[in-house]
Amino acid sequence: MTVSLTIRNAEVVLPGSVQRVDVSVIDGRIHAVGNGIAEVGKVIDAEGLTLLPGMIDPQVHFREPGAAQKEDLHSGSCAAAAGGITSFLDMPNNTPPVITRKRMAEKKQLAAEKSVVNYGFFMGATPDNLEELNAVENVCGIKIFMGSSTGDLLVDNPQVLEKIFSNGSRLIAVHAEDEAVLRENTELLKHISDVRLHSRIRDESAALKATKLAVRLSLKYQRRLHILHLTTEDECDFLRGLPREHLISTEVCPQHFTLTVPECYEKLGTLAQMNPPIRTKRHADALWQALKDGIIDCIATDHAPHTLAEKEQPYGKAPSGMPGVETSLPLMLDRVNRNACTLQEVVFWMSESPANLYRMQGKGRIEVGQDADLVLVDMALKKTVRNGQLHTRVNWSPYNGMELQGWPVRTIVNGETVFLNGEVDKLVRGREICFA
Ligand code: DOR
Repeated sequence: MTVSLTIRNAEVVLPGSVQRVDVSVIDGRIHAVGNGIAEVGKVIDAEGLTLLPGMIDPQVHFREPGAAQKEDLHSGSCAAAAGGITSFLDMPNNTPPVITRKRMAEKKQLAAEKSVVNYGFFMGATPDNLEELNAVENVCGIKIFMGSSTGDLLVDNPQVLEKIFSNGSRLIAVHAEDEAVLRENTELLKHISDVRLHSRIRDESAALKATKLAVRLSLKYQRRLHILHLTTEDECDFLRGLPREHLISTEVCPQHFTLTVPECYEKLGTLAQMNPPIRTKRHADALWQALKDGIIDCIATDHAPHTLAEKEQPYGKAPSGMPGVETSLPLMLDRVNRNACTLQEVVFWMSESPANLYRMQGKGRIEVGQDADLVLVDMALKKTVRNGQLHTRVNWSPYNGMELQGWPVRTIVNGETVFLNGEVDKLVRGREICFA
C-alpha cells in the first residue's frame, strides 16, 4: 500500500534535539524532515502536539497461541497502538510454547494476519532445543526463564545454561530469578497464604543470584545478554561496577518504579502480583536512578494480561502478571510533565535504545529513510486510567483511577494511522521487524 502524508507544525523529537519542523512520509518511510519541505499526500496539522518516533515495547506476552480469552495478537496490538507503541517483541511462554522453528513460523503467520503494529518474537529455550535456537531465522533473541513463571519454560540447570551460552551468537534475554531460592522460600513460607508474601518468596537474593550467574556466563563466552525487568537496588549496584558495553544490557518496567510494597498489595491484592515482584520504595527509587544514570538501558512493560476473574483468586491460585502497553507512555509523559525526566530521555528509553539493543532495522529515530512509525502526543491532555475503557482484552489496569497528563492522540505505523483520538483502525496491519 502506498502511504504518503505530511505532518506540519508539531514539536518533533529528533536525534539530539527537539525542533518545530515538518515531516513527510512516502511509501511508509520518512521522506523529508525540515522547514519548507514539499507537501505530499494527506496533510496533518499537528499544532500544539509533539511528534515522537513510535514507541517500541521490548517485552510483552500477547498470549497467542493458547490463551486468546486473555489477549491475542490482534487485541494486544490494538492496545499497543492506543498506547503509542508501534512495535513489540513478544515472549514465547505460550500454550504450546514457541520452542521450534515450526511454531515460530506459525506465530509469525498469525501476527501477519492479526497485528495492527509491527512485531518481533523471542524463541523459548528448553534444556534440549539448542539446534532449534540456533537455526531459527529473524528473531529478536532467545528467552531463558532461569526461574519458573507463567507457563512451563524453565532452564535452571547450570550445565544446560552453560551449553546454551557457549553455543551460538544470538542475543540471550533472561528472566533472572534463581529457581532454587524460589523453591526454598516457597517451602519455608508455604503455611501462609498471603499475597504480601509474594515479594518475600521471590526475594532480592533470588534476583541477584540469577543475574550474577547470567552475567558470569555472558562474560565467559562473550555472549550478548539482555537482563529482562530488573527489580532490585542490589542488581543495579552490581551492574554499576561492571564493564559491559555492547555485551550486557538491561531493562526496567514502569510498574517496578511506580508501584511499591506493601502499599500495592494493600490496594490491589493479587492484581499487583507479578514476577519478578514489585518491591519496596528503596528499590523503586534505585531503579529510577539507575535508568537516569544509564545503568538500565531501556523500558519494557512485561504486559502480561490475565483476566480479572483469574487475578481475583486467592494467593496461590492467582496467576502472576499485569497489563501495561496502554499506560507505559502516558506514565512516562506524566513524569516529563512533573519534570522528573525529559521527553528526549523517554524517547531514548522507549524507542531509540530498544531499536539499537535488538538491532532493529529502520526503527527508533525520526530520520530520513527510517520507517514512518510515529506517535503524536498531547502533553497537556489529562485523562484518568479506567478499567473497562482499555483496549487490552482483560480491560483492567493496576493504574485504575490514576490521572495522568500527556497522552498519545495519533499512532502511525509504516505511514498508516492506526490510532486516532481514542479509536483503533483494526484493519491496519503491521510488519515483521527485521533484526540485523
Ligand atoms: O508476572 C509475570 N507474568 N512474569 C512473567 O515472567 C511471565 C508473565 C506471564 O506471562 O504471565
